[in-house]
Amino acid sequence: MKNKFEHLMLKEIFEQTEVMENTIEDKINGNNEINFKNGGFTSEEVKNFNRIYIAACGTAFHAGLSGKIALERFTGIPVKVNVASEFRYEQPVIDGKTLAIFISQSGETADTLSSLALAKSKGATILVITNVENSTMAKQADKVIYTMAGPELSIASTKAYTNQVLMLYLLALDMGNKNDYIDNKSYLKILEEIKLISAKITEILDDSELIKPMAKLTTSRPSVYFLGRYLDYVTAKEASLKLKETSYIHAESFPAGEFKHGPIALIEDGTPVVLIATQDELVPNMITSLKDVKANGAKTITVIKGTNEEISNISDYVISLPYTMDLLTPLISIIPLQLLAYYTALELGNDVDKPRNLTKAVVIE
Ligand code: G6P
Repeated sequence: MKNKFEHLMLKEIFEQTEVMENTIEDKINGNNEINFKNGGFTSEEVKNFNRIYIAACGTAFHAGLSGKIALERFTGIPVKVNVASEFRYEQPVIDGKTLAIFISQSGETADTLSSLALAKSKGATILVITNVENSTMAKQADKVIYTMAGPELSIASTKAYTNQVLMLYLLALDMGNKNDYIDNKSYLKILEEIKLISAKITEILDDSELIKPMAKLTTSRPSVYFLGRYLDYVTAKEASLKLKETSYIHAESFPAGEFKHGPIALIEDGTPVVLIATQDELVPNMITSLKDVKANGAKTITVIKGTNEEISNISDYVISLPYTMDLLTPLISIIPLQLLAYYTALELGNDVDKPRNLTKAVVIE
């Protein structure tokens, strides 16, 4: 099963190129139309939605956070995302004009299933994005989009995550095209850029060994902090979860701007901080955050697109990503951080494919 790879997690991280290529080939036709087969909506259906809810757990919830940004931007429809275990408590405002999206690698997670049942009982249209055909969620949905990531066996989700994000982006583009919210030029430009993502993932994976030494830093202290703004904050949340799951190190993520309002007190000499700075307009703000944590003694890893001399001069480590448009960076920025979680677990001698206390799907609420 592991082929040439030492662990399933590493194998699945490396499969992300192929998964993305297959998805793009399957979902985008020669005329640049997106086709979800039974999972898509007609123009009329899209125009009828006035609100979208997304509910999911763990990694799938983080995919939902990026999905919200894409859906709101491309369709103009307000989107609310919640962890499924909290969904019902907020008494969601659902009626026949609501689209409720449930994201789940396994399609079996109990909290997500009960949220789905609630949304269904209130008359929402149910869309499930899952990796498992004929899973319970798939059977209960009005529409299903399969993530086509292939079996994901390592407990820590990697390839399913990036493909959930990709599916949500394609869904947002397709819906935005159908409710005429996105102009055709932007639609085509984003689609062309999406087609280049798999090659960019290959570039990152070719340099995977560069991440290995950074595990000496993440294992050097009991806590690691992840900072980002906007879409990079979503990546920070997912990277932090990945590190917790595989290494059992206390990892926390913060919106970089909020970090100075209290949490910065946690920084002491040598505290590892990972900063994600891929959003062009937000790089100056991230440099301020980087300087702040460095001034308090942090040791830093900064994820950037391309090169940045100022960041390279300040940060202890820099991870350089290939260039892509800001909106699409969540599809690539998580990959070196999945590797960081993997190498950190290895450094500690953990069972990376089967971390303690975790199961692939949690089927009790
Ligand atoms: C478990 C797994 C997580 C996963 C979450 C949601 O907690 O350990 O890795 O993200 O369930 O799983 P799902 O199958 O619904 O995506």
